[in-house]
Amino acid sequence: MTLRRRVTLMSALVVGATLVLASVICYLVMRAELRGQIDDSLRAQGSQVARLPPAGGALFVRRVPQPPRRTGTPEAYVQFIGVDGAVRRPPMTAEPRLPITAATAALARSTRLTRILDDTQADGVHVRMLTVALPGRGAVQLARSLASVDRALGRLQIVLALLTVFGTALAALAARLLSRPVAAPTEHELAVSQDALADSLAAQRQLVADASHELRTPVTSLRTNGELLRDAGSVPDAERRLIAGEVVDQAEELTALIGDLIDLARGDVPDPAVEDVRLDALVDECVQRARRHAPGLRFVVAAEPCVVEGAPERLARAINNLLDNAAKHSPSGASVEIALRDGELTVRDHGPGIDPADLPHVFDRFHRGANARGRPGSGLGLAIVRQVAEAHHGSVALAPAPGRGTVARLRLPAVPVGALAAS
Ligand SMILES: Nc1ncnc2c1ncn2[C@@H]1O[C@H](COP(=O)(O)OP(=O)(O)O)[C@@H](O)[C@H]1O
Ligand SMILES: [Mg+2]
Repeated sequence: MTLRRRVTLMSALVVGATLVLASVICYLVMRAELRGQIDDSLRAQGSQVARLPPAGGALFVRRVPQPPRRTGTPEAYVQFIGVDGAVRRPPMTAEPRLPITAATAALARSTRLTRILDDTQADGVHVRMLTVALPGRGAVQLARSLASVDRALGRLQIVLALLTVFGTALAALAARLLSRPVAAPTEHELAVSQDALADSLAAQRQLVADASHELRTPVTSLRTNGELLRDAGSVPDAERRLIAGEVVDQAEELTALIGDLIDLARGDVPDPAVEDVRLDALVDECVQRARRHAPGLRFVVAAEPCVVEGAPERLARAINNLLDNAAKHSPSGASVEIALRDGELTVRDHGPGIDPADLPHVFDRFHRGANARGRPGSGLGLAIVRQVAEAHHGSVALAPAPGRGTVARLRLPAVPVGALAAS
């Protein structure tokens, strides 16, 4: 059996069983209520009759309090039984005879004030009958038709049965609709997701290809220098130290390049360690680091307090890359202005600016501008900044600064600290 069928069947069973139980309880309560009313009125009538003074049967019968009769079928019946078992009925009555059983006859002869209440048939009419012993005088039978009660209960049975059937069917239908299997993707949707998968695979492959190409150069020169050192027997000491220094520098560059590559290889997957980050505090930390790395420059900061939801380490990485670029391209003694306002971080330097031919490519992986030749770097810095910005639903752009230099803008969905506290 399929899962869908099982869910439908189970839902129908549970709802059906609940409705049947509720219907049975409802029916029993209604039945007890309606019949209870008739029993109460019969008992009240019986008590009144038992209190009447001894008199002739006809007189006695006439004085029996009668409930109001509806037109049509009589609702109430009265019948007197003498101690000898003879039946006396109201004069001129066309009412059906009430059945006399051995128990009724015994009651008529009883010397104790007892009574019997039971269901019976009187000329085909279903009645509720009360037989009250009148010690020494016989007994009186009082009955009321149960026809209207039976009719009401019959109607209730039909309504409850319909309710149960429809309720169960509705539950089965709802379960069937809700457990409907999700529509299979259309050909177009499949093609789109296949394209996206192919793009992502191609991007990963390209990264591996670019990376292996970019790694080969520093590894080769590291190896060459290593071999030189190995065969350094004839090389003068000063030159050997120079080569060893180069090896250290190359190893550091390689470490940085590998770090950048690992960062990029993470793709656009959002960092799981997301938290509310005080962007202004993070910018301050990054600027302090930049000051240590470039003590000859002046870093001027104007940061408004704001908070962004993100991964602090990745955000710091992006800010550091922008500050590093500004520092790298600034003439010594120049100033670098950093501002943070309305979720936008701007880093402005007074360097030579970017060649307009390079500008469209600066965010490409491994792209290094004409102005970067001879300077350290892998061409991955801005690619990482863009990746971090997009992973945080932001953006980054580089533009020539008015006058001279470059201005980098990193936009993030940050909110002012004041707005956060007010909400
Ligand atoms: N502040 C800047 N001033 C001038 N050129 C810049 C600046 N920032 C980036 N560039 C240019 O963009 C290129 C890419 O930058 P980046 O990805 O950080 O690589 P890298 O710094 O390793 O060269 C740089 O090679 C450089 O040509
Ligand atoms: Mg850089």
